[in-house]
Amino acid sequence: MVKIFIDSADIDEIKQAYAWGIADGVTTNPSLLKKAVDKRKKKGQKLNLKTYINEILKVAKGTPVSLEVTETTAAGMIKQGKALYKMFNKVAKNVYIKIPINPAFKNSDSTHFDGIIAIKALSKAKIPTNCTLIFTPEQALLAAKAGASFVSPFAGRVDDFLRINAKLKFTKTDHYPVWGETKGKKLLHDNGIVSGIDLVEQCVRVLKHYNLKTEVLAASLRNTRQVREAAMVGSAIATLPLFVIQDMLKHQKTYEGMKGFTKDIVPAYVALTK
Ligand code: E4P
Repeated sequence: MVKIFIDSADIDEIKQAYAWGIADGVTTNPSLLKKAVDKRKKKGQKLNLKTYINEILKVAKGTPVSLEVTETTAAGMIKQGKALYKMFNKVAKNVYIKIPINPAFKNSDSTHFDGIIAIKALSKAKIPTNCTLIFTPEQALLAAKAGASFVSPFAGRVDDFLRINAKLKFTKTDHYPVWGETKGKKLLHDNGIVSGIDLVEQCVRVLKHYNLKTEVLAASLRNTRQVREAAMVGSAIATLPLFVIQDMLKHQKTYEGMKGFTKDIVPAYVALTK
């Protein structure tokens, strides 16, 4: 069964997903944390970040919560990862440290392997990691080799990339076909990756082939069809914004069916259980 994580740092959203009884974990990132903090600032609410994160961890007790590092060198990420783990794992024993696969900003940077080094060091210290910003199966393979518990291919951002490069008009939540899109007669692809879900599937296939323990965590999913497709290609986990989780249950015919059944209720049937 595909595990559903809530992709948010907003405690209200996290509580909601757990109250529905279907959340198997939480993923946060610096942008999601900024959004949650800004929301509170806008409302004039004071926020103690340590207490706030503690609350997230308690709500998610028994399921993994990814906290991302903000440092961009191996030494920095290892130090920060260990510090975050020490500070927060005692709360509910569910902290996973999120490490970018490659913290470099450009080709000429010398830090390309720093993510791998950090994952390996944290893994050696028995600190579980979620390797983020995965855009190729070979990145996933190296992260798995270094000992990452999860690898996070960013499906939605692959679809964005393909559409932007091809100058196609779209909004971020639009579905992109798993088999890809053509422009002229050419199939759009990024070095053989034809869609975000294709990336997820290629990661799943590569890791499965070698019986690696690392789980694929399909990330950057922005619509329900992507969730269906991530499940169909065998992703162990799908992390979803709250609105996508909500959308998963909606269907016009379900509403219509409810109206019809409610209209036809036989009162004596209801009375049986009163
Ligand atoms: C989760 O781990 C990722 O950080 C998140 O899904 C990214 O989503 P986005 O591409 O919609 O920002």
